[in-house]
Amino acid sequence: MSPQRPQRPQRPQTPQSPQRPPSPQTPQRPHDLAALARAALAPGAPAAAAARGRDAIDALARRVFGEPDTGSTSDAAAVYHGLLWDLHADPDHRTYALRWWLASAGYAVEEAAIPAPPLPAPLAPADFAQRIRDEQSALSGLAHPMSQHLFAGEPTRREFEVYLRHHWHRSRLFFRELTELSLGRPLAEASVLFRNLYDEGGGEDPAGAHPFLLQRLLRHLGLPCGFADRPELPEAQAYLNNRIRCARAQNPAWGLAVLFSLEYGTPATHGNIYRLLRRFDVPEDACEFHRLHMTADIEHAEETIGLIAEVVRGADDQALFLASLRHHRGLGRRYFDAIWREIQGTRAT
Ligand SMILES: [Fe+2]
Repeated sequence: MSPQRPQRPQRPQTPQSPQRPPSPQTPQRPHDLAALARAALAPGAPAAAAARGRDAIDALARRVFGEPDTGSTSDAAAVYHGLLWDLHADPDHRTYALRWWLASAGYAVEEAAIPAPPLPAPLAPADFAQRIRDEQSALSGLAHPMSQHLFAGEPTRREFEVYLRHHWHRSRLFFRELTELSLGRPLAEASVLFRNLYDEGGGEDPAGAHPFLLQRLLRHLGLPCGFADRPELPEAQAYLNNRIRCARAQNPAWGLAVLFSLEYGTPATHGNIYRLLRRFDVPEDACEFHRLHMTADIEHAEETIGLIAEVVRGADDQALFLASLRHHRGLGRRYFDAIWREIQGTRAT
């Protein structure tokens, strides 16, 4: 056996400049570009269709991430994020590698557009751990007006249900992100992720898998909770697509930053949700998902920080980690803005 660390396969080469003009043959309308990408997945599609589809995603991503505000509200952005969501969510294992390869054209453009200010020198592990705890706390969604209304105000049950419906979108596929994050890592690192995945999958009891526990709550409340549900808000798709991009990225700093943010922020958020559920007289049995996460993710967060201390050591990697953390939280804030608008819309009706 070679003592060398396993290497993740090289990502296919993609153009480097977000400003590269599309070829004259590439259509310009976002929907036409997305149609070209989807055509690559048609049964029996030739290899040339895959290449055209990848070029189309590249052109579409350049449109989206070349915008001054890399927002998720333009027509091109909505088409792009919906397309990426579908490439990620398609359950057909025969096209898994092709869908990853197509999506990676978009990942490259998005990564190039995310600012990563350099660190002058690497921080010692303990200092870096404190830095990322501080950044996460400063960017926490608990300060968002929606969170303030829900957890420190007087929300209606209907408003709370809108929030919980989106909680389903944010939570149910976390196990896949953990799986993909572990794929390219050496065993010593993957083992830490596997322990987290073991808990997420219910340990020795599949019925206790965390998404099933959340599903029990949503069923109790009469809310939709299918595993194939498609979040329709572009802000939701953008946030979730980024989580998958980070899990798949060649540099693990991308995915570890997202994992840290999710685990470190969970206990406080879930404690708030649990107390609100009980205020609305939801029975204990239906609240198990949130009761569990009030404590379980404290341990996961500490394990993740330990892994980060081992893996994210150089100044460039630490700078990339911080960039990923800020980008993830920025997309989370936009998603919360969109849910907040939806909640306020329920008041009007
Ligand atoms: Fe969980």
